[in-house]
Amino acid sequence: MKSLSNSIEALNCDVKGILLFLGISLILMLSMSLPSGAAEEDRKARQNLLYAFAEVFIAYLGSLPEGEYFPSSHHSSMLQAVLKQSSVANYLIRSYSRSFNGFAAKLTNEEANKLASMKGVVSVFPSKVYHLQTTRSWDFMGFNKTAKRNRAVESNVIVGVIDTGVWPESESFGDEGFGPPPKKWKGSCKGGQNFTCNNKLIGAQFYNLGIPVGDSVRDIIGHGSHTASTAAGNNVENASFFGFAKGTARGGVPSARIAAYKVCGELGCGSAEILAAFDDAIADGVDLITISIGPGFPSEFYEDTIAIGAFHAAEKGILTVQAAGNSGTSGPQSVSSVAPWILTVAASSTDRRFIDKVVLGNGKTLNGFSIHPFSFNGTKFPLVYGIEVTSDCDEISAGMCQIGCLKSSLVKGKLVLCDEFSGHEEARDAGALGSIVPTSLVNVSFVVPFPTSALENDDYGSVKSYLNSIEQPKAEILKSETIKDSAAPMVAPFSSRGPNFIVPDILKPDISAPGVDILAAYSPVASPSDTPTDERRVKYSLISGTSMACPHAAGVAAYVKTFHPDWSPSAIKSAIMTTALPMDRSNNPDREFGYGSGHVNPVEAINPGLVYEAVKGDYIRFLCSIGYDEGKVRQITGDNSSCPETFKNMLPRDFNYPSLTAEVPTGKSFTVGFHRTVTNVGVAGSTYKVKVSSNSKLRVKVIPEVLSFKSLKEKKSYNVTVTGKALDGSSMLSTSLVWSDGTHSVRSPIVVHTFEGFDRGVSIP
Ligand SMILES: *[C@@H]1O[C@H](CO)[C@@H](O)[C@H](O)[C@H]1NC(C)=O
Ligand SMILES: *[C@@H]1O[C@H](CO)[C@@H](O)[C@H](O)[C@H]1NC(C)=O
Ligand SMILES: *[C@@H]1O[C@H](CO)[C@@H](O)[C@H](O)[C@H]1NC(C)=O
Ligand SMILES: *[C@@H]1O[C@H](CO)[C@@H](O)[C@H](O)[C@H]1NC(C)=O
Ligand SMILES: *[C@@H]1O[C@H](CO)[C@@H](O)[C@H](O)[C@H]1NC(C)=O
Ligand SMILES: *[C@@H]1O[C@H](CO)[C@@H](O)[C@H](O)[C@H]1NC(C)=O
Ligand SMILES: *[C@@H]1O[C@H](CO)[C@@H](O)[C@H](O)[C@H]1NC(C)=O
Repeated sequence: MKSLSNSIEALNCDVKGILLFLGISLILMLSMSLPSGAAEEDRKARQNLLYAFAEVFIAYLGSLPEGEYFPSSHHSSMLQAVLKQSSVANYLIRSYSRSFNGFAAKLTNEEANKLASMKGVVSVFPSKVYHLQTTRSWDFMGFNKTAKRNRAVESNVIVGVIDTGVWPESESFGDEGFGPPPKKWKGSCKGGQNFTCNNKLIGAQFYNLGIPVGDSVRDIIGHGSHTASTAAGNNVENASFFGFAKGTARGGVPSARIAAYKVCGELGCGSAEILAAFDDAIADGVDLITISIGPGFPSEFYEDTIAIGAFHAAEKGILTVQAAGNSGTSGPQSVSSVAPWILTVAASSTDRRFIDKVVLGNGKTLNGFSIHPFSFNGTKFPLVYGIEVTSDCDEISAGMCQIGCLKSSLVKGKLVLCDEFSGHEEARDAGALGSIVPTSLVNVSFVVPFPTSALENDDYGSVKSYLNSIEQPKAEILKSETIKDSAAPMVAPFSSRGPNFIVPDILKPDISAPGVDILAAYSPVASPSDTPTDERRVKYSLISGTSMACPHAAGVAAYVKTFHPDWSPSAIKSAIMTTALPMDRSNNPDREFGYGSGHVNPVEAINPGLVYEAVKGDYIRFLCSIGYDEGKVRQITGDNSSCPETFKNMLPRDFNYPSLTAEVPTGKSFTVGFHRTVTNVGVAGSTYKVKVSSNSKLRVKVIPEVLSFKSLKEKKSYNVTVTGKALDGSSMLSTSLVWSDGTHSVRSPIVVHTFEGFDRGVSIP
């Protein structure tokens, strides 16, 4: 019944979030370009920091009881029973009582164990630290300013944003032309000191339950303003970052309202805070939740507060959209948003890229990946290597330009070559004119505080050879420029990859959306480059991460909702997945494990024809089918659900999901079946025929091949059998099936793979 997991998770759903995490070190960069030992040490430092917050525990009591109930006094008396102290007031941090039942309290391990054994307690677990992980992007998706809109309905849509707060005075959140909040809104504006809501930004809450988030909902990091404005910000003309990405910044649903729930501070986001935000957002009456936060690695649903909060949200008709995570380069199974009731979003590129050229003394020009407006005005300056200009650091540290390694008098008027991306900060602090650094995030450009070119490893190597080959090497760094990239969309190298480690038979991520170098609102008190000494301040900035992709998909979900206010979360999610544009396999070698069903397609998403629906009972059957016992299922549902044998005997791959995925054994030929049910939401009297894309290695049989619907909301089932020859370990095959009535194309990827999931001791049939 209880889970006293001591593992601490670091959430890293957004590249910038990771960069921020320790304030000084660029964790993502480190973990990519340092030898693994160093990355490991870095991780340990991070974990130690996280443990410092483990004294806050969450006691989860499940659904709210019916009838008269006084949660705070019930919670206090429960706490009283386990604490030695006479007064519990200082220990009870928060009661959750609006959408589900529970509380957060300061406890020792022993007290937590005692509490866990009390009647009515579903589970007790420590509050973990989660992390944060123009605009051209909408136009790139074919969703231009003239797209058809249902403005009156749109202004009744409320987008709940769980993040770092917002900058309330940003033009993206101004309320010109907005009427009073929709009647259904039950939330409030408790933004704290000097924080005023308006008819656009209708709600604000912040939670200081363990992780310090400051004394108001005001966003001092930039992340929350960015995600909120991407999902539902106003149209703001002439927005740009120092002239880059100039255009109209806009959200997916500019007429919708925003409710901001601040759960993150500079040290991260706590699960106690996240759960409080879900409790409020659900009761406040938001229509959907966007959360660009997640655990650093996949965890069981009953240990993941976002999965639990999102389950309750789904039960109340609210879809949760979550970032897939930014662990892409760490290999397969890195996607950390894994629950089937959540829409999980991967990040991909748009056709606009930023590059930064460096011209060497020998005339050779290389393209780097960084964003800055500085120029050398046509002059080349002396180029030196970190180890040549150090006073007292060893070769490796000096080569990387670690903090304090460069001697100011030796770098003045020069460009410094540093073996580490973060070396540019030391080069700048020491007074150099510019720097050249390597990056392993090819095609992803970061804002840098001074002239810096971030080169792909081979190019970096060639600069080093040039430097070593000549007496007086020189180079010039040019102002960054914008180029068109016809290879887009490509899944970003940082975007977390499938398959799903927790349930290998549910494909994750679900969808891909723009998440590379996105321009959106920022906090005018935050450094745009995350460099504390960068004193520039901007209203709009360019950032990358699955954090940025997530609100694009949330904006699309809200847009779908404006046309179909009565659709269930699963129907909206299905509409987005089955209308997604297939992505180019040659540019995206990880295929469905990178992009899920494909690239989000807002214009088509409002008219999917058929949807794959799932209701609470389906989720419960699904949880039983993956081997969870009744206790674990109840930890998620919070009710008295049980797992009869019939549920346990169901197959996870038969869960009515808009994509079809099966783990198959290595080295054996296989035949797997899937069962699906579609609901007609297109037109009455329509006939759909199935078409399967060819893949010589997979035989796919669909029965029946024709589905005829007399009426709307009518349901029809079909079965799919997929047969193939033996696969090697760690491999996958994919194809897709499309149901078409001549107007609608309802597409589902079919994936078979040999990656094993978390071993719960349940054998896969
Ligand atoms: C805007 O999008 C619609 C639908 O995708 C398209 O038909 C139209 O041509 C686009 N307009 C412009 C100006 O790009
Ligand atoms: C409120 O915040 C705004 C934005 O930071 C600031 O300009 C203003 O001076 C603040 N007002 C007060 C009374 O603190
Ligand atoms: C946008 O900027 C251009 C020139 O930079 C200017 O002519 C135009 O008036 C501006 N538009 C708005 C709405 O500020
Ligand atoms: C290039 O010109 C700009 C504008 O005049 C000036 O601010 C900058 O310092 C110059 N750059 C260098 C490296 O001299
Ligand atoms: C970078 O983008 C180019 C297209 O502009 C593409 O050909 C190349 O494969 C990309 N590289 C990576 C590592 O994504
Ligand atoms: C579960 O709870 C509901 C209402 O609280 C009750 O009607 C039902 O009988 C319970 N089911 C089981 C299996 O205990
Ligand atoms: C699909 O398969 C199941 C189990 O084998 C069977 O009961 C059902 O009738 C089949 N449905 C269709 C539409 O063929």
